[in-house]
Parts: sequence; structure tokens; C-alpha cells
Amino acid sequence: MSFGRMPIANGFLTREQFATEYFFDLQVGFCESCGMVQLTERVDRERLFNETYPFFTSTSSRMVKHFTEFADEIRTRHLTSSDPLVVEIGSNDGTLLSSFAKAGQRHLGIEPSSNVAEEARRRGVQTLCAFFDESLAKRIASEHGPADVLVGANVMCHIPDLHAVAKGARVLLKPEGVLVFEDPYLGEIVQKVSYDQIYDEHVFYFSLGSLSRLFEQYDLEVYDVRPLEEHGGSMRYYVGRKGRHAVSSAVEDLRAHERALGLHRRDTYETLRTRIERSRDALKDLLVRLRKEGKRIVGYGATSKSTTVTNYCGITPDLVEFVSDTTPIKQGKYTPGVHIPVRPHGEFSARYPDCALLFAWNHAGEIMAKEPQFRAAGGRWIVYVPQVQILS
Ligand code: TYD
Repeated sequence: MSFGRMPIANGFLTREQFATEYFFDLQVGFCESCGMVQLTERVDRERLFNETYPFFTSTSSRMVKHFTEFADEIRTRHLTSSDPLVVEIGSNDGTLLSSFAKAGQRHLGIEPSSNVAEEARRRGVQTLCAFFDESLAKRIASEHGPADVLVGANVMCHIPDLHAVAKGARVLLKPEGVLVFEDPYLGEIVQKVSYDQIYDEHVFYFSLGSLSRLFEQYDLEVYDVRPLEEHGGSMRYYVGRKGRHAVSSAVEDLRAHERALGLHRRDTYETLRTRIERSRDALKDLLVRLRKEGKRIVGYGATSKSTTVTNYCGITPDLVEFVSDTTPIKQGKYTPGVHIPVRPHGEFSARYPDCALLFAWNHAGEIMAKEPQFRAAGGRWIVYVPQVQILS
């Protein structure tokens, strides 16, 4: 399926940069033989992950809590040897690893975006500014010894060469070591029509079926899975050397769920395409109608996901006045492609709009809980996942 010309999803830009903005064809394909759903054209990784990467995990209190719990689980379930080592791929601002750093445990973050890596170091998290692959895994293993856990949160689906990661995991992990990672789950995207997960950074849309096929090539297997609510519906996968861990019943349950959803069949994605097109038309029609009625609409959360929505649906500044966002590096800039101004949250609360278009719908609970005054002032939330609607 093609979404047309798209800018870089996290490429928030200044007015001076409009003329040189980079666009590419956003297309996603399904491979009938290996079951993988993935982008068919990729953007150079250095364009995406560099010294201006604007995503900081710690901007969401819910994500901070989530990573604290994730760290606790890793510690109690997988770090049982003496003086264990945990390595994180794509460690961002160190939110997950800070828990191990504080406890004085051996840890190492691998983060290619230098600005977020620097923030992690400031927090006392040991961080290497690099992309993870087999040769880096060898280097880490020789300098630090083998790892008990290799972890990745919302990072594996960003890595075009997944084979390099699987090979790296084999090199770096102890025989009983675990690769544990979580990413947005394809089954949720299909069920919720959350097509906004599809953007440049997300090269892959994983299912248990596609990952199992990948790992079995390296004598690795997914031995446990755990559904998560994060990022609009994610899955945590636990991978180890084949036969080293008991395979949980959750794995078989998820396999059955994927068969029922038809994730292995082409027609599932043809139906999804039609549902995406309907969602696009319904959202655009709603915004146009509200503007004709004279309503002010402001976007809430300048997410990377929203870049796909705004550009695919044609949501321009005449429909959405500005996007409120708490991330300082995004404020004062413009959203990619359609160039809607990004403003600090204070501008949202100083003069509430009639409607807030919830681009950060994956944080709906957290956001709505802290915006009762917007509702009290008569403000209405517009959402588009799982369907386009004004919340009553
Ligand atoms: P995120 O959910 O990580 O989405 P994506 O991966 O698509 O970028 O990003 C959330 C964005 O929303 C981030 O820019 C911070 C912003 N935000 C707010 O402005 N207010 C909030 O209360 C929350 C939770 C997030």
C-alpha cells in the first residue's frame, strides 16, 4: 500500500528549512513467504537518528513508569547470575537503564542519536553512541564479557538489518541469555486501523509469525510473549537459544490469535487498506465540517505518528491551528510536510480551542486525566483510533 510522498516523521523543522525538506515514498508491503510486513523504501538511518533526534522517552510519565516496571522485571526474572550485565539497544535518554545504574549494576546503552545519548550520560547511564550490529556485539563481548540480557524497547522495528541484530544477540548473549524486546504489534494495527504507526522509522510491523521465522534461521526462538498497552498496543517478545527455555503457552495462544486475524494472508491487508482509506476520508470530512462551523481545532501531541496522519489525510494549518507539545526541542518549529506550528502546552491552556485532535492517542488516559479543565470549558476530544469520532 502507498501513502504517497511523506516527510521524515520526526523531522520538525524551522520555516527556513521548508524549501529543502526531504520527502520519500511511504509504502508498506507484505511478504507472503516470510510473513513480514515492512516498508519497501527506506530512509538513510543517519537522516533519522542524529544529533537533533527530538524523541525523549522521559517526556511521558506513563512511559517512565512503564520502564521502571520493565527494569524490575528484567532484574528479577533474568539478572539472576552474580554481577550480571544488561545491554540496551537504542537506549535513548537512559530511562530504562537508569534503574540499573542507580542500583550499581553493570549496564551499557547503545544509542546512535548523540543528543539523547548525552542526556543518558548526564543521568549516569553508561552509553555508547553507535548502531548495534554483530561487530559491535563482538566488541562489547570482548570488553565487558557476555551479557545476561539484551533489551530493546521500540527499537528493533527501526533496524533495517534485523539479521545483524540476531547475529549480534548470538555473539553477545550467555548460553542462557535473553533477548527481550517490545514493539508496536501488527495485530493491534490491523484491529485498530492504527495506520499512523506506519512511518519512516518503523521499518517493520512485527508479528510472532514473522519473528519466529527470522529467529529460527539463527537457532534462536521466541519462547514467551506478553501483550502491552504501550504505543497503542505492543508486544514484548522473549527470545533465547533454541531449547534453552521452556516455551510458554502464551506463544501458542498468540499463534492461534494471529491465524484467526489472518496475519499470514494477503487479503487481510487488502481489507486493511480499504479501512485506512475510509478512516482518512472520515477524519478529513469531520475536520472540514467543524471548521465550516467556525470551530477552533488544535492538535494535541506532536507525535511522529501524526506526520503520517496529517500528510496522508491532508490536514493543513487551515484545519488545525497549532499542535500543543511539551517537548522543548519541537516547540517553535513546524510539523513535517504540512507545516502546522508546534506550540508549548501553555498556549493550549491559555485559550482552549473548541476541539483537540488527539495525535498522542496512545497516551489518552494520561492526557485526559490531566486536562479536566479543557472538558469543563466545553472542549471536545477528537480521536481517530480505533475510529474517527468526537468523544462525548
Ligand atoms: P509518542 O507517544 O512517543 O509518539 P511517537 O512515537 O508517535 O512520537 O509521543 C508523544 C508526544 O506527545 C511527545 O512529543 C510528547 C507529547 N506529549 C504532550 O505534549 N503532552 C503529554 O501529556 C504527553 C503524554 C505527551
